[in-house]
Amino acid sequence: MTGTSWTKVTGGAQGVGLGFRLEHAQRILEEEAVSPWFEVLADNFFVESGPRLAILDKLTERYPLAVHCVGLNLGGTDPLDREYLAQLKKLINRINPLWVSDHLCWTSFEGRRLNELMPLPFTQETIKHVAERIKRIQDALGRHILVENLSSYVSFEQNEMPEWEFLSQVAQEADCMILLDVNNIYVSARNAGFSSSEYVEGVTPDRVAQFHLAGFEEFDTHYLDTHGREVPDEVLELFEKTIERFGPRPTLIEWDSNLPPFETLKAQAVRAEQAMSRAMSRKSIPSAAE
Ligand SMILES: [Fe+2]
Repeated sequence: MTGTSWTKVTGGAQGVGLGFRLEHAQRILEEEAVSPWFEVLADNFFVESGPRLAILDKLTERYPLAVHCVGLNLGGTDPLDREYLAQLKKLINRINPLWVSDHLCWTSFEGRRLNELMPLPFTQETIKHVAERIKRIQDALGRHILVENLSSYVSFEQNEMPEWEFLSQVAQEADCMILLDVNNIYVSARNAGFSSSEYVEGVTPDRVAQFHLAGFEEFDTHYLDTHGREVPDEVLELFEKTIERFGPRPTLIEWDSNLPPFETLKAQAVRAEQAMSRAMSRKSIPSAAE
């Protein structure tokens, strides 16, 4: 790679990280510092033993890690899944990640787990309900978590506020952090017809700890968050606005379907780093002139 030197950062991680996929394990582990940090999907490592845990241990030795979950069911009405929490806690103890995150959604009902991230109505009642559950999860894990905004395809008549207010109020009430998915903002804004810039302007800055970037597909009736292509220019543009507002935060390139060669992911990270630098140089212009 040219232009970027990846260095392992101890005590924190900055820059643009990549999602760890077992398909890339050999490539990632055969040389040093191929990315500043990696995100691992928690549910893939809820196993007692075997080669994938051995790979995870090697990854842990070399890189700062983030753990991303899809099963905490933050907004659900089922009791908290104690087995899931126990597995997650075990994983956290094993790899000591920098961050643990899940989505602001519900994923199971009456014990039946869905394979989808389901949306919540943006009401005061929901804020109270979700914040209470997040607090109990944080108590159980002994650490703060990050909550991520969804890409949405429906909105509720009951909504009492825009999503950015809902997200900010949940974070405040639950005392948790925010993982802002810039692609999800873009997709939801196009589907629901609101302004993605207004969203970015509306989120409380002090809780935002991480960004996600990914790609979507455009259909006749809607935009779909597919995580199966490069980050589109429109999303990168919104990312620059996001950096101008919040400053640099650790950022992840998400690419889950049609997984490309590892070098393609690295190139996406370089592109995002360049966007971050452009935004920061614009951000510094007013203060330099003062
Ligand atoms: Fe995401």
